[in-house]
Amino acid sequence: MKKEGTAERILRLKEKKKAIILAHNYQTGDVQDIADFVGDSLDLSIKASKVEEDVIVFCGVHFMAETAVILSPEKTILIPDADAGCPMADMITAEELRAWKKVNPGIDVVCYVNTSAAVKAECDICCTSANAKKVVASLKGDKVLFAPDKNLGAYIVRGSKKKIIPWDGYCYVHNNILPKHVREKKKRYPKAEVWVHPECRPEVIDLADRVFSTGGMVKEARKTSLDEVIIGTEAGMIYRLEKENPGKRFYPVKDNAICSNMKKITLEKVLISMENMAPKVEVSADISRRAKGAIEKMVSL
Ligand code: 13P
Ligand code: SF4
Repeated sequence: MKKEGTAERILRLKEKKKAIILAHNYQTGDVQDIADFVGDSLDLSIKASKVEEDVIVFCGVHFMAETAVILSPEKTILIPDADAGCPMADMITAEELRAWKKVNPGIDVVCYVNTSAAVKAECDICCTSANAKKVVASLKGDKVLFAPDKNLGAYIVRGSKKKIIPWDGYCYVHNNILPKHVREKKKRYPKAEVWVHPECRPEVIDLADRVFSTGGMVKEARKTSLDEVIIGTEAGMIYRLEKENPGKRFYPVKDNAICSNMKKITLEKVLISMENMAPKVEVSADISRRAKGAIEKMVSL
């Protein structure tokens, strides 16, 4: 008899445990292929708030799984590797945010979804890269405290009258994409457009044709009549773009733009976590209640 492979065992366990697998666009191809739903942070939050299954296996980084816990508290949320964190999210703590608010009283506080639940509990509203401009435009005040990504903060206020006071955080993957990488790829593929993620540096955004969240790139790639696009984000993005758009070519702006945290999730770890029903992601009731308000405000927009 043929031995059951990892993917088959995961599918069998999914039925047995009434589980759904959600995966971020940066996950490896084999993990994306086994997932029921693949998306950006916003799509994944919305999906997590609506699932019917008892168990969510979250293939992404820790703050994303925490958001799923907050939005679906009655479900069991598993993350196949508890060490899959986001270094940018760790650049601000709840204590630091409280102190920052104290020296900047009366100013709206917007937290990027790439923050811990404890930090979200201290802010007025969350945003993702897909809706950050909309979230900031929805606020009455003309000044905003924005944490933790200074690059996203700078992007949000391009062309707006609002003033952003940014926290000094950044994503090491996107911040290491430099103008010289864009120029090199443009030289190699002169017919290609350049699409970048808003976590990139302002000087990289200046060289781009379009700026999108990862979900925005997926949608635009289906619609575009272009044959070639240079993609300025984590290189795992190329897998989904090429899979869904045969015939179109997508080139990573920087081949080694890899988020090692996202890549901690493997197919084998997905299987082990479903077998053991661990590691479970948990958020205290108090933090969850306070963070939920900020996330729900964002989702309702
Ligand atoms: P998206 O919401 O665009 O998928 O971005 C998440 C992220 O972590 C980017 O580094
Ligand atoms: Fe965090 Fe950057 Fe990895 Fe996204 S790519 S999860 S922002 S470290």
